[in-house]
Amino acid sequence: MASPRLKFLPRHPFWRFVLGASVPAWVVSIVLYGQSAESGSEGYYQPKQPVPHSHAQHVGEMGLDCRYCHTTLETSNRPKATASVCLNCHKVPADDIPEFTAVRAEATGGPEVKWEKVHEVAGWITFNHSGHVKRGVSCESCHGRVDRMETTYQAEPLSMDWCIDCHRDPTPYLRRPDEVTLMGFKPPGGVRAHGQMVKNERGIDPDNGCVYCHRPRAGVPTIDDLIAK
Ligand code: HEC
Ligand code: HEC
Ligand code: HEC
Ligand code: HEC
Ligand code: HEC
Repeated sequence: MASPRLKFLPRHPFWRFVLGASVPAWVVSIVLYGQSAESGSEGYYQPKQPVPHSHAQHVGEMGLDCRYCHTTLETSNRPKATASVCLNCHKVPADDIPEFTAVRAEATGGPEVKWEKVHEVAGWITFNHSGHVKRGVSCESCHGRVDRMETTYQAEPLSMDWCIDCHRDPTPYLRRPDEVTLMGFKPPGGVRAHGQMVKNERGIDPDNGCVYCHRPRAGVPTIDDLIAK
């Protein structure tokens, strides 16, 4: 019996050879493409920073708490890292990598380091950062495993659905004040049971009415404006 003919393959042995020989090249290029997509950027947004500061090194390896550098977590809506704390450890200018001079300059009264913003909520949305931290929403639930990030990236979409999903069911994300900054937190009994305890203790109950986040104020589009767009 004749062998079944693979109609989609070229018939001539030469073209069959060319096709066969190119398969390893496809495999290699697909694998390389996959790797470059991974090492290029992570999460939703990962800008290159002017100083190659790594949370993986300072938090993951050294175990520093977020508050050590982000000193204004409870009071500011943009709790940026304070450059002067860097000099607690990076004492000797002679040991600096070239990019570090910008940090040293800020710490000694010069211009601020131009860190690229990783997260941004539009100005016409009511979003209170310190409010969330003070009510016990963990850093990890909005920023992901920062302790594993070499270069900081945006781990969550920051979309309206994302906000609303948590407001509907915030329980798994709630912690006591001294637990808010912990990464990979696993309370005995599980996160939901622990969060439920915090929710009850503190009476936490976020709203989802439109004006909760689209609060009417000067210079901000109204809900009607938004829907009309
Ligand atoms: C050694 C100091 C230091 C510690 C400790 C630290 N950070 Fe940072 N963090 C920085 C610096 C510097 C930046 C700005 C550069 C960057 O984005 O990586 C930053 C940026 C960030 C950003 C991005 C801000 C933006 O632009 O949107 C987040 C989120 C963040 N840190 C979260 C954390 C969390 C969560 C912890 C604790 C688990 C933590 N950081 C601990 C120094 C620190
Ligand atoms: C608690 C001590 C400590 C603090 C605070 C600290 N660092 Fe570091 N940092 C280190 C150590 C230790 C290393 C590893 C140095 C090495 O491997 O030679 C390091 C490494 C670095 C590196 C990598 C380059 C290098 O020299 O190896 C950068 C960049 C850096 N830190 C930036 C910062 C910035 C920016 C801040 C402040 C927001 C900061 N560090 C705060 C201890 C600290
Ligand atoms: C409810 C979600 C949420 C929680 C919880 C949260 N963040 Fe954020 N964080 C955001 C969003 C959204 C932004 C951008 C805010 C904006 O655009 O005004 C932001 C901005 C930041 C910034 C940028 C400040 C700057 O330089 O502009 C840092 C640093 C930061 N967060 C660290 C933390 C740390 C540390 C914790 C835990 C103590 C934490 N965040 C908890 C959502 C959150
Ligand atoms: C992971 C959970 C979580 C996410 C994500 C989240 N929130 Fe909240 N939000 C809360 C909790 C918990 C409260 C506190 C409610 C209370 O105090 O009873 C809160 C409170 C608020 C408040 C009222 C607090 C105040 O101080 O005015 C606003 C406004 C708000 N959130 C807006 C947002 C917006 C906008 C987003 C998305 C960009 C967002 N939230 C994302 C959990 C979350
Ligand atoms: C928990 C916070 C929250 C609540 C509650 C909320 N929104 Fe939003 N809304 C947002 C955020 C954040 C954005 C911006 C999303 C983005 O930038 O992708 C947004 C965007 C929008 C937009 C799109 C505007 C545009 O130009 O893309 C419309 C329309 C809108 N909201 C209407 C509503 C209506 C109607 C309600 C009530 C049923 C509502 N929102 C309730 C947080 C909220």
